[in-house]
Amino acid sequence: MKTKMMMLAAVLGVSFGCFAQESKPERKAVEPGKILIAYYSWSGNTKYAAETIRKITGGTLFEIKPAVPYPTEYRACVDQARKEIRAKFKPELSTKVDDIGKYDVIFVGSPNWIGTMAPPVAAFLTSYDLKDKTVVPFFTHGSGGMQNCEKDVRELCGKSNVLKAAAFQGSSIRQSDTRIEQWVRSVIALPEKK
Ligand SMILES: Cc1cc2nc3c(=O)[nH]c(=O)nc-3n(C[C@H](O)[C@H](O)[C@H](O)COP(=O)(O)O)c2cc1C
Repeated sequence: MKTKMMMLAAVLGVSFGCFAQESKPERKAVEPGKILIAYYSWSGNTKYAAETIRKITGGTLFEIKPAVPYPTEYRACVDQARKEIRAKFKPELSTKVDDIGKYDVIFVGSPNWIGTMAPPVAAFLTSYDLKDKTVVPFFTHGSGGMQNCEKDVRELCGKSNVLKAAAFQGSSIRQSDTRIEQWVRSVIALPEKK
């Protein structure tokens, strides 16, 4: 009886193992021409992360620019950001993606502002119909980490396929190329290097 039970457990174990492997979502290989890397950056850290992702993926870089730039003085910028985020304000943007239809995968980068994405990024996400797109959020932060950034992007892009976000420490972003590449390769499969 004991032997029979052990055999049954072994068979079930093997078949469950196979099932688990088969049902694991496959990362689809994405051609560089189908990848857009859109970012907003106030002081350069998220821009650096976006440029690194561009080098890794070969995608197209796009800067999200508010029509009226934020104050260059830190305290004034924090005060304005806090008010805008509280009011869910989405500023007018001065840049527009030429042909959003060309892209299947959109990396979207933002600094963590008051625990969430910066308002220009919220404006970007709601300016286009992204329901058939794969959105890949990334953030740089002061020391708060992800906070509500990923959750809030998911709420704004409810109909898109939103992949696992990453948050990188802004002050060490220029030493984070390997971590950025590891994360990119964990969310999408890139075509083999020729
Ligand atoms: C208006 C404002 C609000 C910020 N709020 C946060 C925050 O809530 N949590 C955090 O970890 N960092 C916060 N930071 C720090 C930035 O997220 C961090 O420096 C980031 O790397 C800046 O990216 P950037 O250089 O692309 O603008 C804030 C910075 C600014 C200017």
